[in-house]
Amino acid sequence: MHPDSSPTNHEKLKKWVDEMAALTKPDQVYWCDGSQEEYDRLCGEMVTAGTLIKLNEQKRPGSYLARSHPSDVARVEDQTYICSEKEIDAGPTNNWMDPAKMRPLLSGLFDGCMKGRTMYVVPFSMGPLGSPIAHIGVQLTDSAYATVNMRIMTRMGSKVLDVLGADGEFVPCVHSVGAPLNDGQADVPWPCNDTKYIVHYPDSREIWSFGSGYGGNALLGKKCFALRIASAMAHDEGWLAEHMLIVGLENPSGEKTYVAAAFPSACGKTNLAMLIPPKGFEGWKVWTVGDDIAWIKPNSDGTLRAINPEAGYFGVAPGTSNETNPSAMKSLYKDCIFTNVALTDDGDIWWEDMSEPPAHAIDWKGNDWTPDSDTPAAHPNARFTAPASQCPSIDPDWENPEGVPISAFIFGGRLSKTFPLVYQAFDWNHGVYLAATMGSEATAAAVGQAAIRRDPFAMLPFCGYNMGDYWNHWFKLGQNLKNPPAIFRVNWFRKDKNGKFMWPGFGQNMRVLKWIIDRANGNANAVESPIGMMPAHTDITWDGLQYDNDHFHHLMEVDRAGAMGDVEEQAEFFAKFSDRLPAEIEKQRTNQSDRLASAPEIWELPK
Ligand code: OXD
Ligand code: MN
Repeated sequence: MHPDSSPTNHEKLKKWVDEMAALTKPDQVYWCDGSQEEYDRLCGEMVTAGTLIKLNEQKRPGSYLARSHPSDVARVEDQTYICSEKEIDAGPTNNWMDPAKMRPLLSGLFDGCMKGRTMYVVPFSMGPLGSPIAHIGVQLTDSAYATVNMRIMTRMGSKVLDVLGADGEFVPCVHSVGAPLNDGQADVPWPCNDTKYIVHYPDSREIWSFGSGYGGNALLGKKCFALRIASAMAHDEGWLAEHMLIVGLENPSGEKTYVAAAFPSACGKTNLAMLIPPKGFEGWKVWTVGDDIAWIKPNSDGTLRAINPEAGYFGVAPGTSNETNPSAMKSLYKDCIFTNVALTDDGDIWWEDMSEPPAHAIDWKGNDWTPDSDTPAAHPNARFTAPASQCPSIDPDWENPEGVPISAFIFGGRLSKTFPLVYQAFDWNHGVYLAATMGSEATAAAVGQAAIRRDPFAMLPFCGYNMGDYWNHWFKLGQNLKNPPAIFRVNWFRKDKNGKFMWPGFGQNMRVLKWIIDRANGNANAVESPIGMMPAHTDITWDGLQYDNDHFHHLMEVDRAGAMGDVEEQAEFFAKFSDRLPAEIEKQRTNQSDRLASAPEIWELPK
């Protein structure tokens, strides 16, 4: 170990690295510089170790395939903890353990956990280097796989230490796969541990992750820092850390309007972030700023400015294709890491619904696979890690340190009935209520739950403190904005009585986005419904799509019983927050209930 070889004069950072090395006992400590040479070397070492497979250089230059251990394939929400000093500050939607219990438990697990391995020191910036909206973290990890992924997903290396200087602030993030190698023990391609803990201390702003090498459990800049810890920082400092994509919509005159949109997992967020305008929208362009996370700060001019804190996409591969998301497919042409997808016979990758299945492939577990196999070729949560800069629709301003101005917030879930395609909140507070009550329908795998799995603001697994306090934070933040963004709910997934989707979705969602930005810019009409402001058929641009008035009426109707049922169910959910529930939430719920009580059985847009 060469503790003195640290390329920084940041005493606090050096001391912490030394302390963690003394605890975890790696064979060596290596400070990452973030260079291409370093990345290539680490990938080369992982190819030798069997962790990565180099893909065909002609077909997929500079790219690799990793196969995880079959037990280490997704975020582990039941082992994810928010260890605030007081349980009430974690709230009813988070797992909590007393830090006085968690700290010794983790010290035991981390003691000697990096034996036989290298501890990589990974300095990273969430957000453009030096941006007033950005923040710095340092991840210590014994996973070279996590290290190279962090280089794609964040701005990583020496340049971050330069910004940090001698006394800059950083969030300490410790990560171990929890698989020490004792006395020359041979390594395995994907080391991990059955015991897993993903722990956040929001009071001291620390992250400790043990036992997993996969995705959000291991790339600590993403969900752990940019959402859970950052949401707690944002609460204290008066900004927002949100599970939102950011897009800019440019009209044929070159005017751009930015919106941020929150959806629970599996609602097509990356597709919306990279939407290609459909026929009829010639001259329009949708620009991608981010596909998963937004950090949003009030600006001195009374508007909100947003950055994408990430530098890459960690996207779900299955279902991504030239039909569903051509821009994502184009982003994957080189320099990517694929995890748990299938390997084709010509050394390229494949996953379900990407294209015609190959006659033969090697599946994500390393077994032979043919289209007749009973199991999928790629794991359903297989991922690509791709540099954001490779996206053909990347916004020219995506690295603007000041961020982009947000004109509207959009909240959506996956709901087959009751909820119309789009409606606008009457005002900011009503919008916060609409976002707090969003959710997706329970799947067959979750029978016994309420009809709707509430996922307020799509932040259920990601809010690093009491969700009641989070709603309050949103209420308060809006009060101080001179120009608060307009707030909308959308639902792409309503079905008719034959079980068919009523709305084509994908690129056609542009029609909804256009109405949204027109409303935000004060350029579109709306009709008042019992649940919010809605577009009439004539308020939507239909060029290039046949979608008649009758269909639209059904898509937009509000059935009183269904909507009232939902309002009643919300009460149960809200009750869990007891005295941390803002009174304004309950007031909004009562208003909604009153409006519905005086509505017709089926409320329809005027014909
Ligand atoms: C993600 C998620 O991986 O939300 O982005 O689960
Ligand atoms: Mn996400």
